[in-house]
Amino acid sequence: MAEDMADPTVQITAGVTLTICTTCRPEGTDPEATRPGSVLMAALSEAELPEGVTVRGVECLSACKRSCAMVLTGGDDRWSYVYGDLDPDQHVDDILAGAAAYAATTDGLVPWRQRPQVFRKQSIARIPPLTIPSKDD
Ligand code: FES
Repeated sequence: MAEDMADPTVQITAGVTLTICTTCRPEGTDPEATRPGSVLMAALSEAELPEGVTVRGVECLSACKRSCAMVLTGGDDRWSYVYGDLDPDQHVDDILAGAAAYAATTDGLVPWRQRPQVFRKQSIARIPPLTIPSKDD
């Protein structure tokens, strides 16, 4: 096999990470209540995560106007995605389904129709993998 051809039997070992902003508090949220970002983090931490997927919390992703926010990453070879307007009461199952579909790819590009609606409609940004060549190359 040529060195530049991908071996389909080789599994991508880079894990997929859901990084949740635990300090997100959408406008209009009760300031005395637990922050919805923290609620989302707790819900995902308690959920059965897809194989190869982990969850972690951070304080602020600089997407505060789109609270609750999270990032989906998967190593150097996958595109990363920033999502916003997440609701811990409505979106946990979709986030898990989207993370599972993402983890099944080698490049992070899940076909549009296979993405849960929350990933189709609430993407803030996608960030190219470090390994993608520059368009100027
Ligand atoms: S507080 Fe969540 S993105 Fe800033």
